[in-house]
Amino acid sequence: MITLGEYIIEKQQDFPEASGELSSLLSSILLATKVVNREINKAGLVDIIGATGVENIQGEVQQKMDLYANETFKAALEARGEVCGIASEEEDEFIIFDSERGVNSKYVVLMDPLDGSTNIDVNVSVGTIFSIYRRVSPQGKQTTLEDFLQPGHCQVAAGYVVYGSSTMLVYTTGHGVHGFTCDPSLGVFYLSHENIRIPESGQTYSINEGNYLKFPDGVKKYLKFCQEIDQPTNRPYTSRYIGSLVSDFHRNLLKGGIYIYPSTASTPKGKLRLLYECNPMAFLVEQAGGKASDGFKRIMDIEPTELHQRVPFFCGSTNMVEKAETMMEQYSPESKTTTESEKAKKLIA
Ligand code: AHG
Ligand code: MN
Ligand code: MN
Repeated sequence: MITLGEYIIEKQQDFPEASGELSSLLSSILLATKVVNREINKAGLVDIIGATGVENIQGEVQQKMDLYANETFKAALEARGEVCGIASEEEDEFIIFDSERGVNSKYVVLMDPLDGSTNIDVNVSVGTIFSIYRRVSPQGKQTTLEDFLQPGHCQVAAGYVVYGSSTMLVYTTGHGVHGFTCDPSLGVFYLSHENIRIPESGQTYSINEGNYLKFPDGVKKYLKFCQEIDQPTNRPYTSRYIGSLVSDFHRNLLKGGIYIYPSTASTPKGKLRLLYECNPMAFLVEQAGGKASDGFKRIMDIEPTELHQRVPFFCGSTNMVEKAETMMEQYSPESKTTTESEKAKKLIA
């Protein structure tokens, strides 16, 4: 039985140049995870369910547990001194850690402290998502916005915690995806899923079909494809949508499947956040052999322009994502987004 702490140290020894800072940073995330997990398990007994009455910068009502998780991860990351700043879905701006250790450290963390937070009121799985980058601003100075606006392919590590029927932490440092399950009696995470591989094809599609009439035609066509009867390809597929990205992603990662949160008529850029949700999940799914795109191009190649940027998200088993992309290209080419920098590059070419 290998614990997460032991595994992190063992892997660090595979890289002679590693200084231990990333390992220490991952340990601080683990500590915050344990604290949040303890509180979530008490939901219904103590006053942590329900809304605060306050909205975050994205106009979403913050739940009490959103704030608790945000404060807990922020405090753990600041105390350990391995990051020079963080950005969070629940914070308007990025936060600078300006202690001496903070400014001299080389990493930043971006996070969705509690994903699917409205599910907590009804005892349904929620999660935490994190993404780690090496800073691009000079060490010894305060962190700057450019440290946070890096494309996903620059991620050093990413992971999530699913507070489900058991609590699991799944992460990658670019060398495969590994999952650890918490033994609640000891509060220890043990390696339970080493080197997770997502099946190339799956039988599950996950999308909020209540928005069907607002979907682009490419998505409507793909859904019809999923629902068609075709024995050789095991269709119709099964529809499963929990409404916590972490939980939907986790199931599809283990069993195969596709998760889609497309642009809709009312949310033309989709709902999910590029930096806190899509990039870390894209890193994980690619490391597991799957694919993540905005319907046309690789999520991790998108150049971010703002912290709370949203993006359409198609993620999961490679064959399924590619099929959905084909349909987007054929039936919804108008929803292809071209960023200003891409336009400029085309003009120069
Ligand atoms: P968050 O709780 O961090 O705001 O994220 C909620 C996200 C994601 O977890 C989920 O997949 C999606 O929103 C659900 O949105 P809909 O209710 O619109 O389907
Ligand atoms: Mn979320
Ligand atoms: Mn959240």
